[in-house]
Amino acid sequence: MQAGHNQEKTVMRAPETILGLESSCDDTAAAVVRRLPDGTGAVLSSVVVGQNDLHAAFGGVVPEIAARAHAEKLDHCVEQALTQAKMQLSEVDAIAVTAGPGLIGGVVSGVMCAKGLAAATGKPLYGVNHLAGHALTPRLTDNVPYPYLMLLVSGGHCQFLLVSGPDDFTRLGGTIDDAPGEAFDKVARLISLSQPGGPAIEQAALSGDPARFAFPRPLMDRAGCDMSFSGLKTAVLRARDTLVSAQSGLTQQDQADLAAGFQAAVVDVLAGKTRRALAEVADVQTICVAGGVAANKAIRTVLETVSQDANVTFLAPPLGLCTDNAAMIAYAAAEQATLREPDDMTLSARPRWPLDKRQPGMLGSGKKGAKA
Ligand code: KG4
Ligand code: ZN
Repeated sequence: MQAGHNQEKTVMRAPETILGLESSCDDTAAAVVRRLPDGTGAVLSSVVVGQNDLHAAFGGVVPEIAARAHAEKLDHCVEQALTQAKMQLSEVDAIAVTAGPGLIGGVVSGVMCAKGLAAATGKPLYGVNHLAGHALTPRLTDNVPYPYLMLLVSGGHCQFLLVSGPDDFTRLGGTIDDAPGEAFDKVARLISLSQPGGPAIEQAALSGDPARFAFPRPLMDRAGCDMSFSGLKTAVLRARDTLVSAQSGLTQQDQADLAAGFQAAVVDVLAGKTRRALAEVADVQTICVAGGVAANKAIRTVLETVSQDANVTFLAPPLGLCTDNAAMIAYAAAEQATLREPDDMTLSARPRWPLDKRQPGMLGSGKKGAKA
């Protein structure tokens, strides 16, 4: 029996406590997450340092400025994340890092930093798809059983995903042009509201008449779950120009009505396409949202209604885990580590990295990087 014992293979234990790094857009982040026996994650720390001030003067994220800021701030974020988790680097089981998709300079900064940490400590290294991080967040917070539907809506992303496993994603559809957050930001700029546009439009819309302008509901007449927000933005631009040329400016009520009309159109499109997505998938008990746009109350309310009508549970993770963060990257690595070996030092940064391996990625780039 001694021989049999000797033949037993050593099964690699999936890492439990992971240091995650995120730098694919305009937030530099580090976090320590422990995967608990029940499958959820305990976020021991999550540090996010934004760059809004650095880009404010340029009306969008400037990739070179973003990359330099990430390179400068990553070390500090890692130190803070470890301090807040009351841990030494030597105590974590693995290093995880966003390896794409995103603005390439930032992704390279993160991958280089993670490789340095892994090489110095001998810890395993996991390159994670940023979108997988968002998509697996409902497992981190609530251990939502597979399969579930995920609607990702942020300044850079917009897609419906059927999440069937830690590395099993089916893309049901997404935007063919602007992401919704991008549209909120651009429309806010058009009607002289502050940035970020989402909260400003939501606030202005409270005192607006959503029916004053007949804005389009793009692609609602087309089958499937693809969406478009660029034409809607142009419709707002035209309405604004008509008002400006008739009365040489916008009143506060005009701003409110334009904001309310635009938001109502986005709400209708997201609701209609969510109904379609739910109709396309079977055996789904839960629909989840992630991304900054999920903060919008009108959007949350309509998604709750759509979910109730379809008899599925609606879940929106806490906002700090909905927007870009490194806890989701650490947790995604923990989930995926049960299925695959770590990466080695050939891990490279990928500007594009479609989650659904069966489908081509989206064309074009948003202001926050590749649409993946
Ligand atoms: O996920 P996020 O923090 O960053 C990335 O896009 O990566 O999302 C930011 C986006 C911005 O475009 C912002 O205008 C939008 O989310 N946003 C909102 C709201 N709060 C933030 N959009 C609509 N309503 C909101 N309340
Ligand atoms: Zn993101």
